Amino acid sequence: MWDDLIPIVEAGLDRYLTCAETCPRRLEEAMRYSVEAGGKRLRPVLVLMACEACGGAIEDAVPASVAIEMIHTYSLIHDDLPAMDDDDLRRGRPTNHRQFDEATAILAGDGLLTLAFEVIARNIQPAEVAISCVADLASAAGVEGMVGGQMADLEAEGRGLRAEGQEISASATSTLGPQLSALDQLEEIHLRKTGRLLRSSLTMGARVARAEPATVELLDHFGKCVGLAFQIADDLLDVTGDAARMGKGLRKDADHGKLTYPGLLGIDESRRRAESLIDEARCSIAALGDRGHRLDAVARFILERDH
Ligand code: IPE
Ligand code: IPE
Ligand code: MG
Ligand code: MG
Ligand code: MG
Repeated sequence: MWDDLIPIVEAGLDRYLTCAETCPRRLEEAMRYSVEAGGKRLRPVLVLMACEACGGAIEDAVPASVAIEMIHTYSLIHDDLPAMDDDDLRRGRPTNHRQFDEATAILAGDGLLTLAFEVIARNIQPAEVAISCVADLASAAGVEGMVGGQMADLEAEGRGLRAEGQEISASATSTLGPQLSALDQLEEIHLRKTGRLLRSSLTMGARVARAEPATVELLDHFGKCVGLAFQIADDLLDVTGDAARMGKGLRKDADHGKLTYPGLLGIDESRRRAESLIDEARCSIAALGDRGHRLDAVARFILERDH
């Protein structure tokens, strides 16, 4: 489905993940370790597909696709740290802090985060497109998006089995406000911790192709639905998935008291919600016609995936 795009992403990562002579070798090794471990490369592939769907040249979207994979990989390195989800396995390998040490893992994440913005700033032309990509990515990765969502995810730990509709009045409501139901909180967490970054794959691809604002908007909506469905599927796979296939530790969300879709709604209802989000995503790109067929296939993959 996107096999032809993977070598483009890999070549881009290889080209842009370069560290200056002055970069400590151990730090460079740790940054490469997690990026080169692979993964599905879903976000970079979506950047390329969105650009293509908007009539742009795939090659022009490579810096943005590399940047988002760097930020995604940094988010995984930090997500696995003992202070966060405390995981030992990622992308089929020991997690970064297990392979190196915690300080190196933190710095490798910091290095990837900052390098991502340098790659965009130096390699996307014209400057106004680079600026719009930086703005999309910074907002998606930062406190409005992934970082804020990760904080809310940690704050919600221990309240994962609340019934739907029940109000959460615990003290840790600072990032989301006190009045949201558990389900609203969960949706908000997932939209931020995972959805926003995925959404920015679509909008950056569209911006590189100089798409009309209306097209950027419909791809943004596609990304929002697909991003939420992707994290619902991730929650489901934590319960039902195969660890070897996933390349990471499973059955941990409940132990950590994570607020998750299957924890709150059960497996069947969670699956139904993911399905309806994918239907909505597919409808939202109908206007692209044939140009949207690859994005449509990705949307279907998100429901069917086992890794
Ligand atoms: C895992 O993302 C973290 C989530 C946001 C659910 P992926 O499932 O895309 O991980 P990789 O990139 O394939 O390793
Ligand atoms: C992670 O969500 C989202 C990120 C921003 C990294 P999870 O904590 O569920 O991801 P996994 O299951 O560890 O890959
Ligand atoms: Mg997490
Ligand atoms: Mg995790
Ligand atoms: Mg998970």
